[in-house]
Amino acid sequence: MKPTQTQLYLPISAFSANSLEKTSKGEMNGRAANRLAPCDRAFHDWYRFVLSFPPHLVSSYIEDFGLKESHLILDPFCGTGTTLVESKLHGIRAIGLEANIFSHFASSVKVDWDIDPDLLRKKALHIANSTLELLKAQGIDDNGLLKGNLKEVPLKTLDPEAAGLLLSKSISPLPLHKTLVLLDSLKEHKEQAYYRHALLALANALVFRISNLHFGPEVGVGKPKMDVPVVASWLHEVDRITNDLQLVQGRSYPNAKVYLGDARDVSSLIEPNSVDAVITSPPYPNEKDYTRTTRLESVVLGFIRNKGELKEMKKNFIRSNTRGVYKGDEDDKYVEDHTEIQKIAESIEKRRKELGKNSGFERLYGRVTKLYFGGMSRHLAELRSVLRPGAQLAYVVGDQASYLRIMIRTGRLLADIAEALGYQLMRIDLFRTRYATATREQLREEVVVLRWPGKKS
Ligand SMILES: C[S@@+](CC[C@H](N)C(=O)[O-])C[C@H]1O[C@@H](n2cnc3c(N)ncnc32)[C@H](O)[C@@H]1O
Repeated sequence: MKPTQTQLYLPISAFSANSLEKTSKGEMNGRAANRLAPCDRAFHDWYRFVLSFPPHLVSSYIEDFGLKESHLILDPFCGTGTTLVESKLHGIRAIGLEANIFSHFASSVKVDWDIDPDLLRKKALHIANSTLELLKAQGIDDNGLLKGNLKEVPLKTLDPEAAGLLLSKSISPLPLHKTLVLLDSLKEHKEQAYYRHALLALANALVFRISNLHFGPEVGVGKPKMDVPVVASWLHEVDRITNDLQLVQGRSYPNAKVYLGDARDVSSLIEPNSVDAVITSPPYPNEKDYTRTTRLESVVLGFIRNKGELKEMKKNFIRSNTRGVYKGDEDDKYVEDHTEIQKIAESIEKRRKELGKNSGFERLYGRVTKLYFGGMSRHLAELRSVLRPGAQLAYVVGDQASYLRIMIRTGRLLADIAEALGYQLMRIDLFRTRYATATREQLREEVVVLRWPGKKS
């Protein structure tokens, strides 16, 4: 007998803690709002930004918007794919767009549930054994961990141009060597369907177990680990993936497609008049560089090989930090007439001069604010043609005071820009507050809820 639509998926409660922080649109503060329940981790934890918005937030807007299986959800800044995974778990089709090549890879793997978990596990064990043998032949016991010194071992290293892109000391020489040996063994399976899952498992192991990185929440370099078991760390991550895939085996879930692209060009990638809802968290004007967060895995696994490739990728980003501003940028012209944004940029510039901050980057603080809102305005303008009339949108953004302590009310300004473009502002929900040490204030992270009424004829 053909299963009915509702029998196709496991109930969402099988994956997520519905009781946890159910009122995610309410007054939660700080960590509680971002915490992941243990049973909210399936698929999401294959690879995740430390500050990704939590699955339960997405889930609550899916419910709030009354989204059903016939609908299509878009996340134009999909990052590591939280919205896409959550939509799929609800049995709803989703499309993602992401400008960072590694995050694009990660989210597209996270929504690919069509591979055989038993085969992945079997092949991973085979690859693990052959890698351990190779290392043994070099005198390296991956599980025994290095005790003496390393001088005799010829270690694999990255190409110097690629190595130059890494945060200094983000990975120690022996763990890097072992990772590159494992990567070579893995690459022999490049043509196989399970390869991408195995590679994502290596990325997660690399970031959270093998490297010296720590996230607090910004990425930084901690105490160097001279040695660490690489193959076992990778197998642990493979295991996590295979366990989750086993949960959904034999069931049918809708497709989620992820495009590598620029959300400011969304209409060139997505069918007109097709999207019923947008649930997303775009960058904020907060000096965060998303290519830094993903730098180690992007470089070690070969997604970015040199400065030129990094720069080309960054050009597709919304300008939210001064290190990602380029000659010829002109998104600021889209907010030329927005008095408040112009005033904020002027105040930042005035404060910069008062404080005598004259470095090349500091001189860009005022401009990047205009470029940021101009870019978001471009995105919202382009988005209109892909939305169905009545489409509902949730944009999660944070207020910011980092540019020389001038307050930027991101949510309110975006709401303003959206209204000028013909969207209806339904409300602004408080998602959570964050304590900002610089200003000793609680900054709001909000969800700007919009509705697209359709083009006025
Ligand atoms: C706040 S993060 C999104 C995190 C996401 N909600 C998740 O679950 O991981 C913002 C994302 O927007 C991406 N981004 C920045 N500019 C973009 C652009 N112009 N087009 C598409 N993605 C962009 C960044 O690379 C980053 O991954």
